[in-house]
Amino acid sequence: MHAVGPKSVDIDADVDADGDEAREYVENVRLLSEGSVRRSFDPYTDIDWDNPEFAVEANEEGWILPAASDVMARHPWYQGLPTEKKIAIGKYRTANMCKVALQNECVLISGMAVFNFGLPVGSPEFEYCTHEMIEEHNHNLMFAELIKRIGPAEPGPMWLRRGRTAGALAAALAPNLFFMIVQVVEDVPDCMQKMILRAGDQVHPLLRNVISIHVAEESRHISFTREFLKKNVPPKNPLSKFVLSMAFPLIIRMSSRVLLLPSMRFYRKFDVPKDVQRQMYGTPEAAQYLSEFFTDSRTLAHEIGLMNPVAKALWKMLRIDGGRSRFRSEPLRRAR
Ligand SMILES: [Fe+2]
Ligand SMILES: [Fe+2]
Repeated sequence: MHAVGPKSVDIDADVDADGDEAREYVENVRLLSEGSVRRSFDPYTDIDWDNPEFAVEANEEGWILPAASDVMARHPWYQGLPTEKKIAIGKYRTANMCKVALQNECVLISGMAVFNFGLPVGSPEFEYCTHEMIEEHNHNLMFAELIKRIGPAEPGPMWLRRGRTAGALAAALAPNLFFMIVQVVEDVPDCMQKMILRAGDQVHPLLRNVISIHVAEESRHISFTREFLKKNVPPKNPLSKFVLSMAFPLIIRMSSRVLLLPSMRFYRKFDVPKDVQRQMYGTPEAAQYLSEFFTDSRTLAHEIGLMNPVAKALWKMLRIDGGRSRFRSEPLRRAR
């Protein structure tokens, strides 16, 4: 009997109670663990940091932000800047995106450690989450190496620094809520990073290498979170379900600014005009573009029964409503 975590993570009991569905869930989680054992990356041996082609100064234009992947890079203000300034902004923004990613990984790892604390030894979730934490630690070493080369990076968003214990707290008290946060902070950067990869040779080879490794491992992480939420969002507890249906769009709205938009410090540092700042997120077109990043989350909300009429209205009010995807990562194609 475990003290922390949802009742439904008692795998043996679940298999007895839910039959085929629970068995399929256990099998899928074990397959993800096997994937981690078979293929995982090392930040020092899988990236040739000393390769002259990976030097930051080699192919400097590779640091210019690809228009498809970044809310600022697609703005005519950025596109009209001199090449050196575009490179400087590209390096600064990339370093800061890595810093936010690193801090998000810390929140995720702390929550998973708490979640794992009470799980029975041998539980597929314990094993998978342990693999995932190891991979996230390696991602952080990789992000840190990249920041050391292209930085400096800002200290990170204020609310993220103040809320750094939120992951552990949510994992202890409400694991479904915790994995909902995980879903958002993994899915949105994943979508963005895939867009960067699609820019191909235009992107600096060092960044391409780092992102390729990250995207490959995040795919497993996102699969696990989706499996977990599909299984554990309670189908028979209307109050809990309603609370989660309200929490989901709120988490997305709160995270979207730090995940997708430059910071106020950035705007000041590079003298970004006020009207350009507003156009990046304050116009209906900008809202429409940003909402594309949440298509997979909206689809998941429908799939796990969290899109009731009140939730729908909230998604709309927060300007993150829109269509659903037919399969994961489809928004990538539309935004492109
Ligand atoms: Fe990661
Ligand atoms: Fe991850």
